[in-house]
Amino acid sequence: MCGIVGYSGDKKALPILLEGLKSLEYRGYDSAGISLKTQNGIQTIKTKGKIIDLITLITESKIDTSATVGIGHTRWATHGMPNTKNAHPHTTENVALVHNGIIENYREIEAFLKSKGFKKQTDTDTETIAILVEFYLKEGMGFKDAFVEAVKRLKGSFAIASISETDDYIMIAKHESPLVIGVSNGETFIASDVTALIEYTNEFIFLNDGDIAIINKGDFEIFDANLNRVKRNTEKIEWSKEKAQKGGYKHFMIKEIAEEDEAVRNTIQSRIDEDGNVILDELKAETDFLKNIDRITIVACGTSYYAGLSAKPILEKYTGVKVDVEIGSEFRYYDYIYSKNNLFIAISQSGETADTKEPLKMARDKGIKTVSIVNVKESAIARISDHCIYTLAGPEISVASTKAFVSQLAVLYLLAFYIGSLKGKDTRDKAKYLLKIPSKIKEAFELTEPKTKQIAKDYHIYKNFLYLGRGLNYPIALEGALKLKEISYIHAEGYPAGEMKHGPIALIDEKTPTVIVAHSLEPLYSKSLSNCEEIKSRMGKIILISDKVSPLADETVKMPEIDYEFLPFTFVVPLQLLAYYIALFLGNDIDQPRNLAKSVTVE
Ligand code: F6R
Repeated sequence: MCGIVGYSGDKKALPILLEGLKSLEYRGYDSAGISLKTQNGIQTIKTKGKIIDLITLITESKIDTSATVGIGHTRWATHGMPNTKNAHPHTTENVALVHNGIIENYREIEAFLKSKGFKKQTDTDTETIAILVEFYLKEGMGFKDAFVEAVKRLKGSFAIASISETDDYIMIAKHESPLVIGVSNGETFIASDVTALIEYTNEFIFLNDGDIAIINKGDFEIFDANLNRVKRNTEKIEWSKEKAQKGGYKHFMIKEIAEEDEAVRNTIQSRIDEDGNVILDELKAETDFLKNIDRITIVACGTSYYAGLSAKPILEKYTGVKVDVEIGSEFRYYDYIYSKNNLFIAISQSGETADTKEPLKMARDKGIKTVSIVNVKESAIARISDHCIYTLAGPEISVASTKAFVSQLAVLYLLAFYIGSLKGKDTRDKAKYLLKIPSKIKEAFELTEPKTKQIAKDYHIYKNFLYLGRGLNYPIALEGALKLKEISYIHAEGYPAGEMKHGPIALIDEKTPTVIVAHSLEPLYSKSLSNCEEIKSRMGKIILISDKVSPLADETVKMPEIDYEFLPFTFVVPLQLLAYYIALFLGNDIDQPRNLAKSVTVE
C-alpha cells in the first residue's frame, strides 16, 4: 500500500530510486514520483500511471541526474484520485515529502494551517504533512526540528521520508507503516521493504514505531518517540536478488507458482527430523502451554484466511481442540470470547495487513498467547506476536498470493503435528509424509500446467464461474475463485458443493461453467459426482479437478495421487494456473491487477 524509497550516498540517486520503485511497484501502482536534491535545489517529477510512465517522463526532462540524494514513491490511492496532482512527492517552497499510510487527523491540521495562511494544492492527507514542516521552517526552526515537530502532531499510520532545500540529509519517521534502513559503506538506503534494496545490501535496520531518523550518506542517527537517541540492531537478510526478479518468466505469478515446491521445502526441511519429529524451536518455551491448549483461534485475510480454513480440519484432528478461523476485518470489531488456554494464530504473508494486525494486538492485550505465521522478516505482525514462525517462501512479488499460501499451509500442518505430539499423539508418519509434499507439488505443476492452459484458452470468454468443493476441497474452491476474480476480473463464486441446491444452482446455465474440485478418496466423492449430474442436466459446463477422470465432466484436470489429508497442497496448483492462464488470454496486467495492492496497511 504505497512504496517509498530513498538514497543518500556518493552514487547517482536516480537509478537507485527508480530500481527501488520498480521492486516496490507491487505495493501500489496508480502514480509515482521522485524528488532529487540537486545543485539547484529540489527537483521533482511525478505522474499518474506506473514507474514506466515516470521513467519516460524523466527521460524527456532536464532533471539534474547527478544528484546523490533523493526520495521516491509509488502510490495506491487512499485520499484523492490517482492523478498527477495527488502523486507523491508533495512539495512546498522548501520541502519534498513522501508518505505511506493514513493521517487520521489531517483535517484538523489542515484547518490549523489554513488559519496560518497556508493552502493545499492537492486532495491528499500527505500534503498536509509537507505544509506542516514548511510552517515550522517558517517559524524559524531548522529542517530536523521542523520535521520532528510536524511528526509529533500526526495521528494515524505513517512511514515518511522528506528532503529540504536547506540541508543535505533525509528525515524519516515510522509509525505503524513499514520502513527499513539499508546499510552499506558510505551510503544509506531507505525503503518500505527489503525487496527494494537487496540489490545493494543485505544489512538492514528495522525501525520501531515512533522512530525518527536522520539519514546522511552512510551515516544515520535514530531517535525514539521521546527523541532519545537509540541504537537499533542490524539484521542480515539472506533473500537473494534473483528471487526478486522474474528470471526468464513472463510474470512473477507464474514464477512463484513454479517455486511452490521449493517454498514448502525451505519451510519444512529443517523443522522435521529423520524420525518424523517436528522441531519448532520458535515454540520451545511454550511446551507446557501447548500441551494444555483447549482452543485455537486463527485470524487472517484473503488467501491467508483460506490457508487457515484449509488447515482447520487437520489442526482439529491432530490437536484435538476446537479451531476457529476468523476474517481479520470482522474479528477486530467483534467481542470474541476466548477460552482459558487459547492459542491465537495470525497468518500474513506481508506481516503488515492492518486487518490482521489489529486482532493480534487485541488478543495480546487480553493476555492471550499469540503466534504469527509470516513471510516477511521483521514485519509488524512478526514483531508484535509472542512468537513468529516464518514461512521461508522468499519474496512474493505478484499481488496474487500463491507460494505464500502453500508455505502457510506447511507451517499449519507442522503446528498440527507438533502440538498433536505434545498432546500424546504419534504424528511422525504424517510429518514424514509432509516431507514428500514438495515433490508432489512439483509433479502437480508439471502434470496440470498444459491442461489448465488449454482449458483457459477455451474458457476465458466466460463472464461467470462457480467453484465447488467439499471438505478439504471447499476452502480450495474458495481460493480458486478468489484467484480468478483478482487477476482476470471475472466474477467467480466459491461454494461448498452441498450448498449448491440451496441457491447457487439457480446460476447454472450454458454460460456459467463450474469448476468442481474433488478427491476420489474424500468421504463425499459420490455426492460431488451427483453435483456434476445436476449441473449437466441444466446444460452447465464442468471443469473437474480430480485424481479420477469422470465422463460427466467437459474437462478434467487429472491430479497426481496424494494422501487425502494433504490434498490442499496440490489441488490448489491447477486452480492458480487456471486463473493465471485465463488472465493471460485476456491480456490483463497479471502481477499488478487493478485496484489491488500487495500489502494492505489500511483498513
Ligand atoms: C490474494 C491476496 C490477498 C492477501 C490478503 C492478506 O491473492 O493476495 O487476499 O492474501 O490481502 O495478505 P497478507 O497475507 O499479506 O496478510
